[in-house]
Amino acid sequence: MSKILITSALPYVNNVPHLGNIIGCVLSADVYARYCRSKGYECLYVCGTDEYGTATEIKAIEEGLSPAQICDKYHKIHKEIYEWFGISFDIFGRTSTAIHSEITQQIFLSLHKNGSIVEDSVEQFYDESAKLFLADRYIEGICPYCNYDGARGDQCDKCGKLLSPTDLKNPISKVSKTTPVLRKTNHLFINLPQTESELAVWIEKTSKEGNWSQNTTKIAQSWLKEGLKKRSITRDLKWGLKVPLTGYEGKVFYVWFDAPIGYISITANLTDKWKDWWMGKDVKLYQFMGKDNVPFHTVIFPSTLIGTKEPWNLVHHISTTEFLNYENGKFSKS
Ligand code: MF3
Ligand code: ZN
Repeated sequence: MSKILITSALPYVNNVPHLGNIIGCVLSADVYARYCRSKGYECLYVCGTDEYGTATEIKAIEEGLSPAQICDKYHKIHKEIYEWFGISFDIFGRTSTAIHSEITQQIFLSLHKNGSIVEDSVEQFYDESAKLFLADRYIEGICPYCNYDGARGDQCDKCGKLLSPTDLKNPISKVSKTTPVLRKTNHLFINLPQTESELAVWIEKTSKEGNWSQNTTKIAQSWLKEGLKKRSITRDLKWGLKVPLTGYEGKVFYVWFDAPIGYISITANLTDKWKDWWMGKDVKLYQFMGKDNVPFHTVIFPSTLIGTKEPWNLVHHISTTEFLNYENGKFSKS
């Protein structure tokens, strides 16, 4: 009998939990964990707050606290709300722990040793008044497709098109309301094409064995069909994990690089036997998440783990939820 490892997507710490968190990835996972326990399966159910990145930095500026204080404050709120709902996590941890940074850096160093990390320079919007490089969604402007005036640098919420910040007409920084300038900066990238064929074989096999839903499999396959490109894993920020490489002292890992590793480190904060769960042969990993998290869990994170050439357990079954809709639009936490 396999052991069952269950995860719910780690909620961003910079907000109070909203209906989408609970419905999207907690309620269903909790039900499944209770089912497994009632059947007497050996199972572990982990979750916790996703704490690094721009969103936390900006929240800290807004509330006049430090990022660490924001994380402490909101981690507690999350934990209490899930306790109030009676969610049966074995641990509700967080990503800002020492073990988390250790495991993340080790995974990075394995990738680096295997030649899976490349360096490149990019041009990015910089807010001269707030003195920071802007994440895509902190830039607003006019959508080039539908002329909507509140389009974000990553996406237009009116017409739904994915954008990059340089597509926007009249880009404005959401942080300072000033016009940002383009600046050159160096970043590290994970070389996804290098492990693409191995990933494709794994997706083909696991989507069947793990009985992935049609929409999950479609999303994964559409990424493969497009062809994987290298993806940046560093950012010019302060609130994040240090990059253990000369020349990168002022930069941190992109939050989507370290966050999924949080599943592993949160387990390690619970038990010394964490490697049995994450590398043991007899474990099946079940991951629950909202639809927008699917590419990270089917393509990017599995590629990261494959690239280490270490025997990590990759996801077996994925359970996803569609966006929660409200009056014809995407339900929004705000
Ligand atoms: N914080 C992300 C969100 O709320 C989910 C992170 S899942 C993890 O969309 F895999 F990165 F942990
Ligand atoms: Zn648009």
